[in-house]
Amino acid sequence: MNPVALKYTDGVRRRHGEPDWTKPCFPQRDERLAKWRAAQAMPTVSTPPERGSRLSLWTECLAKIRSAERFAVEQGFSGNDPVLKLLELEERYHSDLLGEVLQQLGAAPLLRRPSVLTRVLFWAMSALPAALHQIEVYLGERVGLAVFLFLRAQLPSVASPTHLPFLELLFDDVIADEEAHVWYAQALLSTRQLAVAKWLLPLTRWAVTQELPELQALAGKKGIQFMLAQLESANDTV
Ligand SMILES: [Fe+2]
Repeated sequence: MNPVALKYTDGVRRRHGEPDWTKPCFPQRDERLAKWRAAQAMPTVSTPPERGSRLSLWTECLAKIRSAERFAVEQGFSGNDPVLKLLELEERYHSDLLGEVLQQLGAAPLLRRPSVLTRVLFWAMSALPAALHQIEVYLGERVGLAVFLFLRAQLPSVASPTHLPFLELLFDDVIADEEAHVWYAQALLSTRQLAVAKWLLPLTRWAVTQELPELQALAGKKGIQFMLAQLESANDTV
């Protein structure tokens, strides 16, 4: 295994322990999550978010990005690549954890069919030559992380103080993985590929605002600027 892949897989094992491929799952991660759930005394919110409220915009945005991630996983890009298999398993956890966040807040954790634009982008991922495919994966991971960081920052304004600590734990568990995904996707790129990725950022920004108009409704232009700054900032976490 090359040094980048080794560093990535070491990071996964540090965060979640050894995977059990017979299930498949991360037993240590499941144990940690079970403890958090046992300590969470608050029942889920039973009323759905009021239409047009900040909470409904927030949950709508999370539901969309969760569905897009799940759709990506179901395309089965990993094959037999050991790193991509780990990454895919992490993404499956994200789908469950984010579904749990939605449920806690009273929103239905239904998976939807992503928009045409998102589906075309995923289709392009499988059709593009490897060098371009890697760039698109990197941009996709970067967008995902930026949106998660944005939603995480907004969480205290949509969740009740009693639900907040548990939801923050779930969200932070997902974000730690996503930071590592961005690191890994970036580490695979050459200087030239990174330059192309940077050149494609305006298009990526446009796609994000088209797909997630709720972001602008939630935070206005200033909030979007914050999110886009995350999209462009460097990341060395693994
Ligand atoms: Fe990811």
